[in-house]
Amino acid sequence: MAEQFTKSMARNIYYGGGFFFFLLLIGLTVDTMLDLPKRDHRENITIAVAQGKKHWEDNNCIGCHSLLGEGAYFAPELGNVFQRRGGGDEETFKQFLISWMGVQPLPIPGRRKMPQFHLSKQEINELAEFLIWTSRINNNDWPPNIEG
Ligand code: HEC
Repeated sequence: MAEQFTKSMARNIYYGGGFFFFLLLIGLTVDTMLDLPKRDHRENITIAVAQGKKHWEDNNCIGCHSLLGEGAYFAPELGNVFQRRGGGDEETFKQFLISWMGVQPLPIPGRRKMPQFHLSKQEINELAEFLIWTSRINNNDWPPNIEG
């Protein structure tokens, strides 16, 4: 064994390590891509879910809320609002969302306000469908707490 750490040894570690971790990155990327359809249940994306996502974007809900951890931290996480406010029941959740959207902004002093969006009942139903679909993505139980 060489007594000294030579330039060529350093080079071999550099290229060998770089190549090894590049292969690892490719492998993990392929693994993730193959796993995604089983986790997101994309076969359940109906027209209503897609429309709901459009309303979500058009009204910039993510400007205040987070969804599965991504977004702004001004207002509650909505990735699990279906469980939190609907108890996992679709009808209960849709009723909740229609009333919730209808009474904004709440006239409670000192409380953060959510704007009134003047959405139709159908648009709110589609938003509910989108949030229900989102809540069923298998993301290893994120967020860890029911209150978001
Ligand atoms: C300007 C910031 C803002 C925007 C934009 C916004 N929200 Fe909110 N939202 C809030 C705040 C603040 C609260 C908490 C209000 C409270 O508890 O009184 C809230 C609460 C909620 C809740 C209830 C959460 C719970 O756990 O009870 C739902 C559902 C909700 N928003 C849906 C939406 C949807 C859908 C949109 C887009 C159409 C949206 N929000 C856009 C600020 C916002």
